[in-house]
Amino acid sequence: MMTSDDFNHEELIRQAISARERAYAPYSGYKVGAALLGKSGRVYTGCNVENAVYPLCTCAERTAVVKAVSEGEREFVALAVATENGGSPCGSCRQTLREFGADIVVLIADVTGECRETTIAELLPGSFSAMDLDSE
Ligand code: THU
Repeated sequence: MMTSDDFNHEELIRQAISARERAYAPYSGYKVGAALLGKSGRVYTGCNVENAVYPLCTCAERTAVVKAVSEGEREFVALAVATENGGSPCGSCRQTLREFGADIVVLIADVTGECRETTIAELLPGSFSAMDLDSE
């Protein structure tokens, strides 16, 4: 089992930067890569996948989550996200990740590997989760 104390930050960032190369972003030109580390030790990468019908664009982080969950992994240690300028994960991606844990470490990197470390709890304070559905 992987924990947040013992994973290789640089390696996860490197995988996000590499996944960014596969971004399909002909409309925005803004390429994003993600690498999501499961507690099993497996890493699921993702990139943004845009569409001529703009609302159908999928973010890199959600690509990685959907790949992971569809492969049977539901518990995560960390997510690295890489953009040209160190852009932050959008609100929809924060909520998508929150579904699987508030303590997931998030490494927000630029293409040089420069990075800021945070967590889903910090990025999405006061979040809605499955626990809220239990209150009635
Ligand atoms: N994008 C992501 O992949 N992740 C985010 O968290 C923010 C935005 C993508 C969506 C779109 O393809 C492009 O970046 C510009 O918004």
